[in-house]
Amino acid sequence: MYIPLALTYDDVLISPRRSSLLSRSEANTKTRLTKKITLNIPIITANMDTVTGSDMAIAIARLGGIGILHRFINVEENVKEVKRVKRVQNMIIKNPYKIEPYKTVSDAKKYVSSVGVTGLLVTNSDNKLQGILSHRDFLFSNGNDKLVKDIMTPRERLITGNSYTTFEEAKKIFAKYKIEKLPLVDEQDYIVGLITSDDIKNNIEYPLANRDEKGQLIVGGSVGVHEDYIERAQELVKAGVDVLVIDIAHGHSDSMFHAIQKLREAVPEIELVAGNIATALAAKELCEAGIDAIKVGVGPGTICITRLVTGCGMPQLTAVLEVSKIAKQYGVPVIADGGISKSGSIVKAIGAGADSVMMGGMFAGTKESPGVVMTKGDKKFKVCRGSASFTESYTRKKINLEKKNLKEIVPEGIESFVPYKGPIEDIVCQLIGGLKSGMSYTNSHTISELQNNVEFVRITSSGSIESKSHDVEEIT
Ligand code: XMP
Repeated sequence: MYIPLALTYDDVLISPRRSSLLSRSEANTKTRLTKKITLNIPIITANMDTVTGSDMAIAIARLGGIGILHRFINVEENVKEVKRVKRVQNMIIKNPYKIEPYKTVSDAKKYVSSVGVTGLLVTNSDNKLQGILSHRDFLFSNGNDKLVKDIMTPRERLITGNSYTTFEEAKKIFAKYKIEKLPLVDEQDYIVGLITSDDIKNNIEYPLANRDEKGQLIVGGSVGVHEDYIERAQELVKAGVDVLVIDIAHGHSDSMFHAIQKLREAVPEIELVAGNIATALAAKELCEAGIDAIKVGVGPGTICITRLVTGCGMPQLTAVLEVSKIAKQYGVPVIADGGISKSGSIVKAIGAGADSVMMGGMFAGTKESPGVVMTKGDKKFKVCRGSASFTESYTRKKINLEKKNLKEIVPEGIESFVPYKGPIEDIVCQLIGGLKSGMSYTNSHTISELQNNVEFVRITSSGSIESKSHDVEEIT
């Protein structure tokens, strides 16, 4: 039997080539996530329960990537997470939260805390602007029984915009009048929108943020192929997710093709990503099933033991090369998922044909990952858990397992401590800096040039030793 050789990132290096880039700032990292969605940086946070909740999704979308929310919570909580990401940033809010003037301060306080905003526009059911209730009005309200109309800032003292006010014009109005909220009204004083100073600030602070057409951050949801997956998909789409990832360990399976068909019927408009796979044939069949992006990786992940437990998998560089060759013919973007622990591997993944990379372990342990920070001695830790780890599988199957045997669980992932790493912004900054340097070494101004320009060489174990710092004692 002929047995081909398969390689992973550390088995190769990229030959440098003459470069016309004067500095790495000339490298543009814009890329495709799916057929219709673009990202400003090619980084996706993994849908693992110790990696991507709403905090992570907000942070990575602001930096130019996207987070895929994990699905190991009930549908209702999953929907709340999506809404939290969507609500955190806007351009023009078309339907601002409102309250009637004859409600009490206590009603208003309950309302703002339930919807998660700091202030409300005041109007009767006719939608004519009567005032604003800001957090300062609440602060000095002195008593919950008072009426909204008695503590609000009234219409005559408000600065407003109109139906044609742009975001740029609003910036100037905020700077001139030092206000926090700019209601937009038409000629008859009917409310047509709202712009807030927080949204202006966020737009300036995060110029690479990926937003939808409403100016809200983009976010992905994930589903499996069993149980409540259709209901989950429908609810996530209703809540506003931009993309759904059908994520199962073996994506080249009948269950996957059945799920694609069912999801296309249930949520026809949504961009669908399918995975994980590792072969050219799987790529061809998923492309022909009409998928909008493919996720590649069987067993390369930090916490994966699939290859040890099942004997199956594919070293990740070969998997990405094989899948990308086919996906390119169909115009389907590829996500290289797992096995990336340094920026050089991102350059290699894209050089092998991927359009973006998904990372889990690298972002577990950050400030934004779900879970608590634990202290041991003078060191801080968080937990990183595989989606097929014992704890994860047990939690999901608990109900069915009560009468059966725990031995039914065969984990394909582990649970581990990872050092606490602080905010993801610092990590992403290093990763993108490394990616841009790699683009400069390969004369690539864009991600598609990088995909075309890379020539790999295989290296030996001596080459691998030479690639790391050696013969010195590291200080940091
Ligand atoms: P990294 O290397 O970035 O990989 O931590 C993240 C990816 O690992 C996959 N994943 C698993 N694979 N058993 C596996 O074999 C697991 O329990 C498991 N949990 C996550 C997943 O594709 C993720 O994006």
